[in-house]
Amino acid sequence: MDIARLQRTKPFMDKRFGMFIHWGIYAVESAGEWIRNNRNITIEDYQPNFDCFTADQYDPKKWAKLAKEAGMKYAVLTTKHHDGFCLFDSQYTDYKATNTPAGRDLVKEYVEAFRAEGLMVGFYYSLLDWHHPDFPAYADMHHPMRGNEAYKDKEKDKDFSRYTEYMYNQVKELLTNYGKIDIMWFDFHYAEMTGEKWEATKLVKMIREINPDIIIDDRLGGDIKVDDPVYYAGDYGSPEQMIPAGGVVDYKGNPIPWETCMTLNDHWGYVADDINYKTPKNVIRMLVECTSKGGNLILNVGPDARGNIPEKSVEILKEVGKWMRANGESIYGCGISSIPKPEWGRITENEDYIYLHLIDANTVCFAIEGLKDKVKFATRLSDGSKINMEKPWNYTSFLEKDPLFIHLPNYNTMDDIDTVIKLYKK
Ligand code: GLC
Repeated sequence: MDIARLQRTKPFMDKRFGMFIHWGIYAVESAGEWIRNNRNITIEDYQPNFDCFTADQYDPKKWAKLAKEAGMKYAVLTTKHHDGFCLFDSQYTDYKATNTPAGRDLVKEYVEAFRAEGLMVGFYYSLLDWHHPDFPAYADMHHPMRGNEAYKDKEKDKDFSRYTEYMYNQVKELLTNYGKIDIMWFDFHYAEMTGEKWEATKLVKMIREINPDIIIDDRLGGDIKVDDPVYYAGDYGSPEQMIPAGGVVDYKGNPIPWETCMTLNDHWGYVADDINYKTPKNVIRMLVECTSKGGNLILNVGPDARGNIPEKSVEILKEVGKWMRANGESIYGCGISSIPKPEWGRITENEDYIYLHLIDANTVCFAIEGLKDKVKFATRLSDGSKINMEKPWNYTSFLEKDPLFIHLPNYNTMDDIDTVIKLYKK
């Protein structure tokens, strides 16, 4: 087990809930951040997105307040996505926000706003770059110009080391121009485009020299599940659009840090007519599930080209925030319980308390094995009211073991999303 990694990631893993922000000129196209790939769009045909990106209503203070209100404790913004467009004022490219009608360094304002709200600040940075002239196009499986004969000849003039140098320089800019950054979220590796192809050791050395505490995801390549991972393997697993059945464990079965990234509708980048949103109930239950399995949830929003987070996303996040204000204690700093998952819900735990999450409960009386004589009191977390722990008179006729009982006063007062019972350990 990598103890240094566990220590380094502890403050981050205690936060449990973060905001992912996918924002770039693809918001103008309103068809997702992979649109150049999906429709084989050339840089030239993609240019109107650059020319129409106004960001004129961008107010990251609003975003940060919303994240905080939702109960999120950190954020990660796409500083550059696969299309190569940079939201920050990089000295190494002209393909950046300062040269669009937006005319400002959009990363700077984000960092300031989120930091001011006390959230951890993270940067997403795409390893793929469909704009850089030295990134393979014709022969690359994801590039918008893959297999396009017109691009075949150009490959021989390319020098990939110029691209890795560009990346190195940009990441250095990101980590030195905006104060101390908490999270670096690289995306992603595939086929031979992995690990040292990105000059990952050199890159991560530079990053850790600038900030030894920074948390790095696992998408540069390598394998974080082995005993002694390669230097650049990263700090945490990053399952996408799914929550692994048993959480994320190493090859010996020990839990390791992880974070599920999830869209709120069906896209990362802004898509006006994608209204297939998850419900607040769904979001909260995902968060509870991640927490009970020792993982984080980073939930995405895709602001539009003028800088607004879609109204529906705002609405959902505010609803999530209501539950979090009443029940967040069962999430932050909590993790896997010593008590196995019960049939009526999930359990989270910290040093002093065990939290029962009643999400599939059909009665008001619950038996929990393995806790007898270990619990002093029980309260309902949302209002602090005392919970009866009396045993039903004839339970021995139906249960072999002698469990702890929790008896809620009234089924109608149960929270449709998740009623949390707080058990005080002896
Ligand atoms: C993927 C996609 C990307 C998205 C990311 C988020 O790998 O390429 O568009 O940013 O996942 O996890």
